[in-house]
Amino acid sequence: NKVVLAYSGGLDTSIIIPWLKENYGCEVIAVAADVGQGAELNGLNEKALKTGASKLYIEDLTEEFVNEYIFETLKAGAVYENKYLLGTSFARPIIAKRIVEIALKEGADAIAHGCTGKGNDQVRFELAIKAFAPNMPIIAPWRTWELKSRDDEIDYAEARNIPISITRETNYSKDKNIWHLSHEGLDLEDPANEPNYDKILELGVSPEKAPDAPTYVTIGFEKGAPVSVNGEKLSGVEIIKKLNKLGGENGIGIVDMVENRLVGMKSRGVYETPGGTILYHAHEVLESICLDRDTQHYKQQVAIKFSELVYYGQWYTPLREALSAFVNQTQATVTGEVKLKLYKGNIINAGVTSPYTLYSEDIATFGADEVYNQADSAGFINLFGLPIKVKAITEGK
Ligand code: ARG
Ligand code: SIN
Repeated sequence: NKVVLAYSGGLDTSIIIPWLKENYGCEVIAVAADVGQGAELNGLNEKALKTGASKLYIEDLTEEFVNEYIFETLKAGAVYENKYLLGTSFARPIIAKRIVEIALKEGADAIAHGCTGKGNDQVRFELAIKAFAPNMPIIAPWRTWELKSRDDEIDYAEARNIPISITRETNYSKDKNIWHLSHEGLDLEDPANEPNYDKILELGVSPEKAPDAPTYVTIGFEKGAPVSVNGEKLSGVEIIKKLNKLGGENGIGIVDMVENRLVGMKSRGVYETPGGTILYHAHEVLESICLDRDTQHYKQQVAIKFSELVYYGQWYTPLREALSAFVNQTQATVTGEVKLKLYKGNIINAGVTSPYTLYSEDIATFGADEVYNQADSAGFINLFGLPIKVKAITEGK
């Protein structure tokens, strides 16, 4: 028997290797996805083998993740509950898709993952697995084993001499990739507690620790996707890395929220998304001059639905694909440059240009113009206001 395990090297997935071998008598093939989490992958092969895996795949998915998942969601303007930039949510489908490919190639009998039975991630992994391997058995040890807490897990690991790099006091549940870093658990579980940012933040500083001088940055977009920073053409991956640095230094993109999980409960998290926050802001500024009013407004509705689909793990669905088609159609003219000033957690607009701009100074000017006949407005307001007038008359006003 062979089981392919979605492996990160963290506490949960480290314990699952011996647990699978003890409970299923199977060979465990571990698969680690590189989605830009960086240093976490160092020494992973040795660690996986020491923990009992027969093999470790490290799959570099970063570029595909950025271009096919992150930028599709950015173009949609999708933000879950007005705050969460979906960093963990859209990583799950791409990771699960690759794991299925490896499981099929290896002739595996099942796929295992380390998500708890209380979270969103289990749903996202399993919906994506079903999309590509509808009959593949799935093993989710958290839903069946006797370990009830992270402390139980640490005991389990220590009893089996499994290398873990976590201490009992600082074990926030974290998830990191090129787009974001999330923190959940411990003192954050009580929304009454202010996060201890000095302890938590890894991608940057809090606004009060940011420099007193602002940082200017100019981002270029083509058809809704970022293509340059400060006039330099860069890949999507390079752009996010560069903006993560600039944003982090300036205290940008820190979110503290209580969100509604798909499985029904509310949960509290702190997210660091420095570069992503800058990109969302810049993209929206550019759209404000490139999209006509009706498209811009309709797109806001689409963004809400899109965010739910991503958060709920419904990436590989006809609706998500259809909404992406709509979004991409709207992005044909979203090309141009946005200049921003980063200052102590704030993003301040510093100018926007586009060859497709619909903004007409000739029309909007408070000075004299030739195109707009102000006398036209009187008739427009009479008809637009007719229902209000009729209602007021019938009410005897
Ligand atoms: N609450 C966020 C979400 O549902 C982050 C989850 C983080 N996942 C994790 N395994 N630590 O997308
Ligand atoms: C988990 O429970 O596995 C992590 C949190 C989540 O999925 O929402």
